[in-house]
Amino acid sequence: MPRTTSQIEVVSTVSDAAIEVRSLHKSFGTLEVLKGIDFHVDKGEVVCVIGPSGSGKSTLLRCINLLETPTSGKIWVSGQDVTDPDVDIDAVRRSIGMVFQQFNLFPHLSVLENLTIAQRRVLRRSRSEADAVARANLERVGLTDKVTAYPAQLSGGQAQRAAIARSLSMGPELMLFDEPTSALDPELVGDVLEVMRGLAAEGMTMMVVTHEMSFAREVADRVVFMDDGIIVEEGRPEAVLGAPQHPRTRDFLARVLNPGRRASPSDGSLTEPTVS
Ligand SMILES: Nc1ncnc2c1ncn2[C@@H]1O[C@H](COP(=O)(O)OP(=O)(O)OP(=O)(O)O)[C@@H](O)[C@H]1O
Ligand SMILES: [Mg+2]
Repeated sequence: MPRTTSQIEVVSTVSDAAIEVRSLHKSFGTLEVLKGIDFHVDKGEVVCVIGPSGSGKSTLLRCINLLETPTSGKIWVSGQDVTDPDVDIDAVRRSIGMVFQQFNLFPHLSVLENLTIAQRRVLRRSRSEADAVARANLERVGLTDKVTAYPAQLSGGQAQRAAIARSLSMGPELMLFDEPTSALDPELVGDVLEVMRGLAAEGMTMMVVTHEMSFAREVADRVVFMDDGIIVEEGRPEAVLGAPQHPRTRDFLARVLNPGRRASPSDGSLTEPTVS
């Protein structure tokens, strides 16, 4: 049966996006955490997701790489329907780099071994090929001097950069970050953000859950504000962060940028956030 034009358009919209989420619902028992999320990330786009604790940011991210099974709704990653029961979950996960707050490096393996083990076991690369890829990615994150170090010998920022290099070594099509700097001492945050800035500049597709408003403002193509399981507001960073339209966004930003002070509900124009 010939397709109508509109059907073709729908198909191409889905396959062009790096991530496409439609009507996503996720409940844990009786607790509904995601209440109908429509979300997309275009190829090469950097999307920062912000929102209060418990609003469902990590759950959204975890649904995208199938660490959680959606209750209903559909998700496509690089055009592939990952909510199809017959999907090759391992293949989907291989195409997605995941960086968490906790770095999850193997403590008994050197940095180099941490970066090569999955390349060799999962991608079946030879030792020399895996080593070359690992070393190139350690250079990318500024850790060439830590090739033989063990995770316990790294600072938190170095460990997180090693974790990013490990993800990159698998050749992901897109990277998901879940508060990659929030476990770090403040003076170590900058180096990790610098690496992420570099990835964005190279055109990597990135979805970043973050509390780093200055990073979001500077690097994101789009900022998405979530609250209580829905997307409340999204748009260019200067719009969402500089002139938020929704009272919930204004209230959240006021609390994040001025801890201890609440935005007045009538305060339609939150003054320029004091981000560096
Ligand atoms: N595996 C789980 N079982 C039960 N409830 C869960 C599970 N994972 C998350 N939740 C609940 O879902 C809600 C959303 O959690 P989620 O981790 O997605 O929030 P978040 O926006 O990432 O918050 P934070 O900023 O604190 O990381 C919370 O109420 C949380 O307790
Ligand atoms: Mg979270």
